[in-house]
Amino acid sequence: MKIGILISGRGSNMVAIVDAVKSGEIPGSEVGVVISDKPNAAGLEKARERGVETVVVERKGRTREEHDAEIIAELQRRGVELVCLAGYMRLLSKSFVRAFENKIINIHPSLLPAFPGLDAQKQAIEHGVKISGCTVHFVDEDLDAGPIILQKAVEVTSEDTAESLSAKILEHEHAAYVEAVSLVAKGEVKIEGRTAKVGAR
Ligand code: GRF
Repeated sequence: MKIGILISGRGSNMVAIVDAVKSGEIPGSEVGVVISDKPNAAGLEKARERGVETVVVERKGRTREEHDAEIIAELQRRGVELVCLAGYMRLLSKSFVRAFENKIINIHPSLLPAFPGLDAQKQAIEHGVKISGCTVHFVDEDLDAGPIILQKAVEVTSEDTAESLSAKILEHEHAAYVEAVSLVAKGEVKIEGRTAKVGAR
């Protein structure tokens, strides 16, 4: 399975996926390209160090559709079959979602459908939840709302801040993302309506 990864920043989830592909933990796969919308994303250097081709596609005042069209072309040119959003901070256009229908997955730092959107960990702290975590899900046209592949939970203590909770969740994100991509690579995830069934071949 040819994987394309989209980032905007640090890229720690991208690194987890690239390393798991290299070690064979994600079977039969290759990371064909890492694309960033930000030229200074720290993840770009980490991808290059791992021998993965990188491309920067800046928005440059274009519409979302125009910007996405260039990204879609970069992915299709390399035969990408699964797009992993890993800290990619832009919403995808409808045409992007349609071009890769049920082939885009994302990781979000909350137990969806709780706390979609930005600053999920801060939202969780402010709400006073006692359990939070991360969710790997398919991307559809609605924000953080597509079929859920898997989730990992973490306890939130009274000492936690948005920063400490982010760090706790991040530890689980890497394992969760690798596990989810590996399930997809093995053909063990099927979408039925609004639900992703795991374990079905
Ligand atoms: C992660 O918390 C991820 O859940 C969210 O953005 C952050 C990206 O971190 N979507 P990194 O760039 O993968 O280190």
